[in-house]
Amino acid sequence: TNIQDGKVTWESPSNIALVKYWGKKKDQIPENPSLSFTLSNCKTITTLSFTKKETLDKSFTFEVYLDGGLKEDFRPKIQTFFERIEQYMPFLRQYAFKIETKNTFPHSSGIASSASGMSALALCLMSVEKLLAAESTVQVPEDFFSANYFNQKASFLARLGSGSACRSIEGDVIVWGNTVVIEGSTDLFGIKYPYQVHGNFENYQDTILLVDKGEKQVSSTVGHDLMHNHPYAKNRFRQAHDNLADLKVILESGDLNAFNALVESEALTLHAMMMTSMPYFILMKPNTLEIINKIWSFRQKSGLHISFTLDAGANVHVLYPQDQSQEVLQFIKSELVAYCQNGHYICDQIGFGAIQN
Ligand code: PMV
Repeated sequence: TNIQDGKVTWESPSNIALVKYWGKKKDQIPENPSLSFTLSNCKTITTLSFTKKETLDKSFTFEVYLDGGLKEDFRPKIQTFFERIEQYMPFLRQYAFKIETKNTFPHSSGIASSASGMSALALCLMSVEKLLAAESTVQVPEDFFSANYFNQKASFLARLGSGSACRSIEGDVIVWGNTVVIEGSTDLFGIKYPYQVHGNFENYQDTILLVDKGEKQVSSTVGHDLMHNHPYAKNRFRQAHDNLADLKVILESGDLNAFNALVESEALTLHAMMMTSMPYFILMKPNTLEIINKIWSFRQKSGLHISFTLDAGANVHVLYPQDQSQEVLQFIKSELVAYCQNGHYICDQIGFGAIQN
């Protein structure tokens, strides 16, 4: 190809798993299927500039900027990512890249930016692949320029950056991991949930309570690894399949009580796996538990359909239907914000995936 340089930009959202991915095999293959809601407001915006190198060297050439400042700490993760995906993106060594990235949420918020960040970068690389292919004389497969190919491969690449990132390309409900109950599901990339979803879940809300903005003590990479030889791993992986089957029925019927029970149980099971690993660890903080107890008593008193989920950290995702926003937000402000670090929380909701700028 004779393309010398160019620039592409994508913005890609975070996502919140309802059935959790925890435990993986070689090559980022998940031990169990997971299902997530794509989010809308928590996003990473990445611009990838590329320039053809004059001489081919053996290394990858790239610089990473966060909010305009050079970010050396991101290098190792991206280096590993490039190594993993090189076989699928042969042009990687031929260009010098500048990666400029920013998040719509505060970076030291304890919100994982790996899903939004890795999916945004994967999408940028897909756009480069497409630009180069359009100018190339080399024959490409027939479906090469289809949206389907683009999204699938973007998700496939994002998975190799960070597992959960493969669920951030599209919306609004995504399944990743092969399971008999979801047709077309695969371990290799996320797919759009192919069945009917009840109107109760339209514009479903996720208010993220920032309990602890510090760096977490145990990374998810280490956490996934601890599922090898974990005494409860086998049952947990089977349970995830069962929960996905149950969730499919719930998503169709719109049964919010059953939804809340399943989602909360998944969150607590994720943390139970951490607490029963060897070595064991706890990512919840006292305020995480205070919030959970408040949510339970408020739900009991009000009869509203509010529930929580957790990712691999202390923050609490408060889930509720849009038509209950007013009452729930009032409850959050009057009773839960006190447990958030500096009173910080982020209002988000289910979203429809990444967009190119
Ligand atoms: O994508 P990773 O490797 O950072 O794993 C994230 C796993 C959880 O967020 C805890 C659960 C999930 O399914 O997103």
